[in-house]
Amino acid sequence: METTNLRCEYFKNPLGLDVPLPRLSWQLQSTGQGTKQTAYQIVINSGSDVIWDTGKVKSSQSVHIVYNGPALASGQRVSWKVRTWDQNGKPSLYSAPAWWEMGLLNRKDWKGQWIGSTVAGGPYTMAPCPFLRKPFILDKPLAAARLYITALGLYEAFINGNLVTKDIFTPGWPEFRNRTIYQVYDVTELLQTGKNTLGIVLGDGWYCGHVGWEARQFFGDRPELLAQLKLVYADRSEYIIVTDSTWKTATGPLLESDIMMGESYDARRDIPGWNLPDFDDSSWYCVATFPDPGIAIVAQQGPLVRRIQELKPIAEPTRTIDSGYIYDLGQNITGRVRLKVSGPKGTTIRLRFSEMLKPDGTIYSENLRLARATDYYTLKGDSEEVYEPRFTFHGFRYVEVGGLTGDPGPDMVTGIVIHSATPPTGTFECSDPLINQLQHNILWSQKDNFLEIPTDCPQRDERLGWTGDAQVFIRTAAFNMNIAGFFTKWLDDMVASQSREGWIPKTVPNTELNNKDAGPAWADALIICPWTLYLCYGDTHLLEKHYAALKRFVDYLSRTSQREIRCHPTVDPWGGFGDWLALDGSGKTEGGTSKDLIGTAFFAYSARLMANIAQVLGKDNDAEYYVKMSERVHEAFNRRFVTQEGLIVSQTQTAYVLALHFDLLPEELRPAAVDTLVNDIEQRGWHLSTGFVGSPYLLHVLSRFGRLDVAYKLLFQKTWPSWLYAVTQGATTIWERWDGWTHDRGFQDPGMNSFNHYAYGAIGDWLYTVVAGINVDPARPGYKHIIFHAQPGGSLTSAKATLNSIYGLIVSDWRIVDDQFAWDIVVPPNATATILLPGTITSQEVEAGRHHFTKDWHKSVNGR
Ligand code: BGC
Repeated sequence: METTNLRCEYFKNPLGLDVPLPRLSWQLQSTGQGTKQTAYQIVINSGSDVIWDTGKVKSSQSVHIVYNGPALASGQRVSWKVRTWDQNGKPSLYSAPAWWEMGLLNRKDWKGQWIGSTVAGGPYTMAPCPFLRKPFILDKPLAAARLYITALGLYEAFINGNLVTKDIFTPGWPEFRNRTIYQVYDVTELLQTGKNTLGIVLGDGWYCGHVGWEARQFFGDRPELLAQLKLVYADRSEYIIVTDSTWKTATGPLLESDIMMGESYDARRDIPGWNLPDFDDSSWYCVATFPDPGIAIVAQQGPLVRRIQELKPIAEPTRTIDSGYIYDLGQNITGRVRLKVSGPKGTTIRLRFSEMLKPDGTIYSENLRLARATDYYTLKGDSEEVYEPRFTFHGFRYVEVGGLTGDPGPDMVTGIVIHSATPPTGTFECSDPLINQLQHNILWSQKDNFLEIPTDCPQRDERLGWTGDAQVFIRTAAFNMNIAGFFTKWLDDMVASQSREGWIPKTVPNTELNNKDAGPAWADALIICPWTLYLCYGDTHLLEKHYAALKRFVDYLSRTSQREIRCHPTVDPWGGFGDWLALDGSGKTEGGTSKDLIGTAFFAYSARLMANIAQVLGKDNDAEYYVKMSERVHEAFNRRFVTQEGLIVSQTQTAYVLALHFDLLPEELRPAAVDTLVNDIEQRGWHLSTGFVGSPYLLHVLSRFGRLDVAYKLLFQKTWPSWLYAVTQGATTIWERWDGWTHDRGFQDPGMNSFNHYAYGAIGDWLYTVVAGINVDPARPGYKHIIFHAQPGGSLTSAKATLNSIYGLIVSDWRIVDDQFAWDIVVPPNATATILLPGTITSQEVEAGRHHFTKDWHKSVNGR
């Protein structure tokens, strides 16, 4: 047995951590059966001193062990190793050493001033990006150097002309009203004895560029930078270079750079050597300095955005009538294009982006609304010029290149896929190619929308942290990628944006000045997201950290409900977004499920989760309090919405789905409710009619209540509304609407018609948990104990899912051959599992390792 994969707060060797008591995790590696940990020993060094040695601790815990050594100082680096004892009491060797380094723990550790350009744009006028520089001299040999850096806006940092990192869109998008994020980079290797230069380009980003459909300057009027470079010399003396009034600034080729609008780059205005030491900056201006904004400056908490992949067009471009060219990347992505061109000086190339083509072959950009999403590049006239924008991204599959003076070169267009670098963890595949394409589309909508925050869509003038969308998708997301760090950061933003009364805005960060309660299924993200992270990663720290905020939210629901009815029409006439985009209502965008029904169902659910959370944290009185609250809401739900015969007012699929999924109905009414639901589906020709709220749970309800057959019917349905409809239309991502494009009507209302919205991709969770059968056990979360329950159905003859959990690789791989169901399972070391073979009610307990099961398989087993 080996002890490997050491992690600190979900990071591998984090540089710049401000969690005072970080949590440590590792994995056991073994090919043997039944591997488990019976004890561990962690040894932590600061330099050559051992600062914490746990000794041999008898425990099976291998994740989230809280550091309990002496308090760590700003900038302190520690290294750590761990060894473990197996089930036979045999110790492993010590792991390879890992490390972490603390960031700046106190506000007063930041010594510099906020600086930036003297020029600002206006609400509708963009300003050029400021270039900032600071030359300095190293007069003796250097031992180490760290750059601590943050911005209101975005920064790109160079030392002596070299980028300090591959991260992009730094420092990210926090709830800027309360906090910003900083990064720490080890820049020792970039410095040299003698002359050096720090060069920074600032972008508007989310801070002062367009966000959503709002005018610019939502959080502030121009980008600002705060940075310090700490130099530790070989003789152990230290020096820091800070941002202050001695820095110089100028504008250069980046005339405009805006997330929604795109970028304009005039290469004739390049400033060669601006970030190199010998550059003459005598014509540059002194920077402006700004007062401290008084917000928290917090160390980075999750993975940053990076260029993840490059895509080449899949075919020769087509010509447009005005001599442009349209390229097809074959995949709807979030990112941008790297352009390779040549032509006469002063020629401007225009890049436009779209997700779809119109029937006449031109790009469909109507659905971008106010997002100009256009990049302009003006040539300087070199033989070959390469351009990739810096501070913008687009959501697109097609790119239209206009303004060329000659023929396009072979390598003119490369698609650059960018997103938060959440580590891939899951795969799902099965015997049906259309379902595999559906999984592909879900994964891509996740990539395309996990850019700093979980967004609704990456293309139109929106791209916001819609709480409802994130909530419905988080469970699926946690299969495909490790999203723990990503959501750790966003949850902090959500709590930062919570109102004093307890409500949560519709989007996080909050982008509406007069925002108010996001309403059912949206605001409940505050409870559902940390609870999901607890289930998937065993993370109790998040529950603890935000406990007061979660309570405040549920108590707010209780206070504002009328006799336990949330969104009672007389109290809250708005009532939230309803079953957004459902097809069963009269409203343009709302379902026919009444808002007080959705509100009350989610109130009951959130109160029950709150009780679970209190129980996990050992707060028994609170647990009891919220159990009772949830019971009162159940009663209210039945009183108001359920008849004695089990009919549910609204009579929509979503009404039944919520009542069943949240266990709101008394046992005896459940069968009737399931029948009514199935009837409705049948009457619609085996189609769903659910929107954002009902769709994620629909198949779960059917499979759980004995109608796996109907669940598979819906899964395999190819005419709209259905999951596979878009797939049959060549979709490469999940559409916002079931009918984003149809043969008879063409495109839906361009006012809201994104082709990259992951909400309906929430079915991914059902593929992993029901089709492949990998489930968490809430009593032993984080996949410490796994419940394998594959439920084959429809025409599927095989399915395989893998999940790289915090304990290691989980595999569920089944196939049906010659009336034999065969199932291969892998349980990672230090975990255990319960196996439920399809069609049986008895279960088996197994230990870590590989397992193989078979069972006779006749049609009769396969449900109705
Ligand atoms: C967004 C959503 C969001 C919804 C609110 C839309 O404009 O794109 O996905 O949840 O508004 O109902």
